[in-house]
Amino acid sequence: MSNRGSFSNKLGFILAAAGSAVGLGNIWSFPFEVGAGGGAAFLLVYLFFCFILCFPVMVTEIAIGRKTQLNPAGAYEALGFKKWRILGLLGIISGVVILSFYNVVAGWAFGYFIELLSGHFEIGSQFSTFIKDVFKVGLYAMVFMFVTAFIVSKGVSGGIERASKILMPTLITMILGLVFYSLTLDHAFEGIKFYLVPDFSELTLSVMGNAMGQAFFSLSLGMGALITYGSYVGKNDNIVTSAAFITLADVGIAFIAGLMMFPMVAYLTDGTMEGAGQGAGLIFTVLPGAFESLGPLLGVLIGSLFFLLLSFAALTSTVSLLEVPVAYIVDEKKIKRNRAVWIMATIIFVLGIPSLLSNGYSGFFSSFITYVGAENATSFMDFAQNVANDTFLPLGGCLISIFAAYAWKTKNLNEEIALGYPNYMGSFIQKYLNFAVTILCPLVLGTMFLLTLLQTFFGVTLF
Ligand code: PFF
Repeated sequence: MSNRGSFSNKLGFILAAAGSAVGLGNIWSFPFEVGAGGGAAFLLVYLFFCFILCFPVMVTEIAIGRKTQLNPAGAYEALGFKKWRILGLLGIISGVVILSFYNVVAGWAFGYFIELLSGHFEIGSQFSTFIKDVFKVGLYAMVFMFVTAFIVSKGVSGGIERASKILMPTLITMILGLVFYSLTLDHAFEGIKFYLVPDFSELTLSVMGNAMGQAFFSLSLGMGALITYGSYVGKNDNIVTSAAFITLADVGIAFIAGLMMFPMVAYLTDGTMEGAGQGAGLIFTVLPGAFESLGPLLGVLIGSLFFLLLSFAALTSTVSLLEVPVAYIVDEKKIKRNRAVWIMATIIFVLGIPSLLSNGYSGFFSSFITYVGAENATSFMDFAQNVANDTFLPLGGCLISIFAAYAWKTKNLNEEIALGYPNYMGSFIQKYLNFAVTILCPLVLGTMFLLTLLQTFFGVTLF
């Protein structure tokens, strides 16, 4: 363990894992996915995936990590299943792809902190120009990757833990404050209606597929991030309650981010909600206008602090994303941690350059691929998200369940969980988790994976 470090206590692990889960996924992509998915209908499917299907996968990932004390690829092998290494590698590749574009969006958030600090509220309407300015945004992204690498190089308990402890509660308090503010705005009710009253005609396969991908992405699941973090959990810790806390915290924060956003969208659109489905720019175009309405002084203060805290939330996620490939090369290639960190960070930053260029700067990357049957081309960054979030992560989750149930066997999974949970055997939760990993997750995630694959990339639409 000495080369890997460990969390100083149980709270350290939970906060770090929650720090990994809570990030841009909650505050940036959740609202825009809800907006694009027609509102409350998306929310319902999302909640179903998080609590019913993702939670068992989370428990399983943490259990595998704690059992083996290894990175994802090494973990399957250590349990005696050499062929399953490929699943670990799939996860590591997903992590690398996700971090490559995630870091670019983190750069946007950090850039908005600087812009709002100087009172530049017009940045909201200038979003598309801002993301095209690749030298500026590239510099922010570079700074972001540098800070991420610096924290990861300091080792697990030194960096990750300390950062999560102070910043998360501050961010939550701030979002709650903004929820109250946005509820006082004109048309707030229309926004809440859009968010909370489902229109089931919106419920298409693609909405369900996006909700599934978003659930995995937001909970940091399906790629072994929590196998890596689970490898740092003590044997006496209760994995089930830890996973429940992480899931609730993550879903809760996404939920309140939605409560904050949609009344603001309603306010800015006179209740029409037009533009709620605009995609990745949603928070970046809407929030500056709302901050401006707080007045010049308060607007600058709250606006810049919000984007600063969002950057920190992103940082605890980028740290966990980088940790996955780093743990892999430290364990498997016997490279020193410090070197491993800087090598991986450099590679991933370079892999992020096409994403950076794909927001208008380069025609080639901005219209990178046209899926079969699609009207418009998809940018490289959206393509990377479709591949990693919506395809690889749910596939990873499905395969992790299959691995636990049919290769490692539920008996061993149960034994590992029971170490820190004395009444676990025979409990309802044991029965549910076993049912989920053996039947529910493989079936539902497997089917959804196939259907979304066919639809997204090959234009086969069933409903
Ligand atoms: N869960 C993070 C977020 O919601 O922003 C993103 C993420 C982090 C995904 C770590 C996957 C991961 F392994």
